[in-house]
Amino acid sequence: MSERVYIFDTTLRDGEQSPGASMNQQEKRRLARQLDRLGVDVIEAGFPASSEGDFESVQIISSVVEHSQVAALSRCSVPDIDRAWAAIKDAAHPRIHVFLATSDIHMEYKLKMSREQVLQAVQESVARAAASTRNVEFSAEDASRSNREFLGTVVQTAIEAGATTVNIPDTVGYTQPQEFAALITYLKKNVPNIEQAVISVHCHNDLGMGVANTIAALDAGARQAEVTLNGIGERAGNAALEEVIMALKVREDIHGLSTNIDILQIYPACRLLSMITGQPIPPYKAIVGGNAFAHEAGIHQHGMLQNRQTYEIMTPESIGRPASEMVLGKHSGRHACRQRLEQLGYRLDAEQMDLVFNAVKKLADIKKQIFVEDLEALVLEEVFRIPDKYKLLYLSSLSGNMAIPTATLKMVVDGREEQLSEFGVGPIDAVFNGICKIVDKSPELLHFSITSITGGTDAQGEVTVKLENAGRTAVGRGSDPDIIVASAKAYINALNRLAKREEEKAKA
Ligand code: KIV
Ligand code: ZN
Repeated sequence: MSERVYIFDTTLRDGEQSPGASMNQQEKRRLARQLDRLGVDVIEAGFPASSEGDFESVQIISSVVEHSQVAALSRCSVPDIDRAWAAIKDAAHPRIHVFLATSDIHMEYKLKMSREQVLQAVQESVARAAASTRNVEFSAEDASRSNREFLGTVVQTAIEAGATTVNIPDTVGYTQPQEFAALITYLKKNVPNIEQAVISVHCHNDLGMGVANTIAALDAGARQAEVTLNGIGERAGNAALEEVIMALKVREDIHGLSTNIDILQIYPACRLLSMITGQPIPPYKAIVGGNAFAHEAGIHQHGMLQNRQTYEIMTPESIGRPASEMVLGKHSGRHACRQRLEQLGYRLDAEQMDLVFNAVKKLADIKKQIFVEDLEALVLEEVFRIPDKYKLLYLSSLSGNMAIPTATLKMVVDGREEQLSEFGVGPIDAVFNGICKIVDKSPELLHFSITSITGGTDAQGEVTVKLENAGRTAVGRGSDPDIIVASAKAYINALNRLAKREEEKAKA
């Protein structure tokens, strides 16, 4: 019989701290609902004392989450703790999460506090939080670089003061699996009241060890894992939820641990986060990357045809994604297209189906094989896009080492056709300059990324941009086999989103 591990998801707090991953309140609410559906035990919704916006988001999430506990982060200070409680008090299952650093380097240089002062702050803060709720978590920030005996005393103090979960973070991603497992074993042996709390771990990925350290700690007796979707988080990110869950699931034979996660919801959750933040999932990303279930080598394909288990340790369907094999080609019909879309979870009406099917046909003229990811990109572009104020009609671009990069564009702006040519440092710069001139706006480009949706040189390029104009930001996406066209589409998509926000603001 497997022992239960609690999953604490911090995508909306630690994850959101990572550059380019900020979400608005509506997006956070959508993601929180999906996390609830996924079955995480705790959703860390934010850090209410950090800003008014964060406070409101945590309140909103508290009101929509039905099953998961909702945690609010707090420093060891009375106003922070009271603010955290105010934000979550109406949640079905609220949790206050207090933290304070315990390593010598953090105490000396950051906190400027002695060990005695830290112990006192932990005792007082946990007790303050425990006066509001019995569900209190304490985190010893930079625990993995802290003096072991002192860390043990801090953990003991936190539990005495009322902490029901004690978190041991590897804040800077420094530890290694054996060392981290030994730390958990040490705490289990040497902290007299340790059985009164759940030991949690929170591993960053600076040395690429986040998941390995988390699993090693669970094997050593930790029973809560703090994770994020797609592994997003500060610097190199946190341990990825999907990797920790599937490692426990696929190798339950050696770990003997289970979770409450509905693994069919993993892929939809990871895709949703990627759509919201506009940060594409890298193709080689374990579990949810585009290539994670692609079998390229002939010998592998042969094995797969005989028995999938020759090269597949889990099935894509088990995590809620359809098999990443060729789905459609030039001769595929509308019925096959609809069937594939339904397997992906998209139920389209006849008009939406027409749009997508026509786009599939157009793409199949350029690209021989259309994969699941291509299909999803087309659905996003054709069905879920913001009604267009700006539309691209024509784009031609000139570049090379003996040419001045030039873009010639024709666009529709509010029903009017406009065209011009513009120069730039490179072809994409020329396109963006041209679009800005046509729409008479000069937003700041905060983020630009380009990725190949599937493999091969005929793959579609997927471009994501983030623009800021007059204090508002918007993410735009575009895909096309031509990366210059994909860039233009993404830029125009972001401009349309910004225009939509301005419109909503004007109406309000
Ligand atoms: O990395 C860390 O130490 C944290 C704590 C606040 C838990 O994010
Ligand atoms: Zn962290």
